[in-house]
Amino acid sequence: MNHNELLIDEQVKAIKTSGIRQFFNRVSTVEGAVQLTLGQPDFPTPDHVKQSAIKAIEEGATTYTPNQGIEPLRIAAANFVKEKYRLSYNAKSEVITTVGASQALDLAVRTLISSEDEVIIPAPVYPAYEPLITLKGGKPVFVDTRETNFTLTANALREAITSKTKAVILPYPSNPTGVVLEEAELQEIVDVLREHPNVFIISDEIYSELVYEGNHRSIATVEEMRERTFVINGVSKSHSMTGWRIGFLFGPESLIQHALKVHQYNVSCPTSISQYAALAALTNGKDDANAMKDAYVVRRNYVMERLDSMGISYTLPKGAFYLFPSIERTGLTSFDFAVTLLEQEKLAVVPGTAFSDYGEGYVRLSYAYSMDNLKEACDRLERFIQSL
Ligand SMILES: Cc1ncc(COP(=O)(O)O)c(C=O)c1O
Repeated sequence: MNHNELLIDEQVKAIKTSGIRQFFNRVSTVEGAVQLTLGQPDFPTPDHVKQSAIKAIEEGATTYTPNQGIEPLRIAAANFVKEKYRLSYNAKSEVITTVGASQALDLAVRTLISSEDEVIIPAPVYPAYEPLITLKGGKPVFVDTRETNFTLTANALREAITSKTKAVILPYPSNPTGVVLEEAELQEIVDVLREHPNVFIISDEIYSELVYEGNHRSIATVEEMRERTFVINGVSKSHSMTGWRIGFLFGPESLIQHALKVHQYNVSCPTSISQYAALAALTNGKDDANAMKDAYVVRRNYVMERLDSMGISYTLPKGAFYLFPSIERTGLTSFDFAVTLLEQEKLAVVPGTAFSDYGEGYVRLSYAYSMDNLKEACDRLERFIQSL
């Protein structure tokens, strides 16, 4: 064994590389593969956003910014979530501009979680939460949502809470399932959390602009909950800006003031140029997501129709850009299904187990692809299902 291997931190050693990445690396070696694997919009970043970044460079906005991010951007972000979701945050003291939603998540976890703390996570779920928690010595407590249409029910939440519970993660709209929290479900969760005043909420709302039926609703619109909630959002999915790395952490000042210290020593500030790009996105491009959303609905409906005709069942995704169909009736594990599909038909999907063990029996299909790509992918999937 390499000498260094003996000395590396045990918690770091215990983390596994993301299953999505692992699969993606495997796919990239298969020539001519059609993909439904990526979790990012296929649209270009809006032109006015790109122009603002170019202008920022030309005007010399290339220095450090305040740790929290430039003030106009914080004001724009606070206005954006107020107008769109009725969330109310003070741009001076209750917003941090982060390096994507990813860093906002890291800040939330590092600010709240101590060794032995339990964090409730509805699963199957986006893979980043678990390692962030274990790195702090915390314990992820997965709640299996496969029998409840992938939503965290009030009952399941109540059962999962113990004296050690520090936080619950609400990842809605959900990656990988596309499920959103309905108003009634949200109210029931609020009722349970009222009984547990020491439990914090980490609400990952990065897909909030991509809700297809009704409006996005954040738990932090409930005043009592707002006081113990970190809301995570950003421009990656709403404005097709995944590479620009701009997100936001919103919360009451009592939480943000501590998160800001972690942020300051971690990254100082996100890239200055990207901050100006995000400012354009959230001021002149408030509704940029709408056209993309319209395209996603058409694509989603197309893939759903094709799955219907193949006899493959799924839960109706009301947000994000993923379908999470069940492959249970094929008798294959998620991993074997994905590998065989890739080998036989050169079609790449993500095995459900990339989203925790509770994703077994499912695969994730992203419909953030052109209609031509989706059509070809569905043809291949259909041939594969018929061959089994
Ligand atoms: C649920 C969820 N949260 C957070 C992120 C990270 O977003 P960002 O690229 O802004 O860091 C993703 C990205 O796929 C996601 O799916």
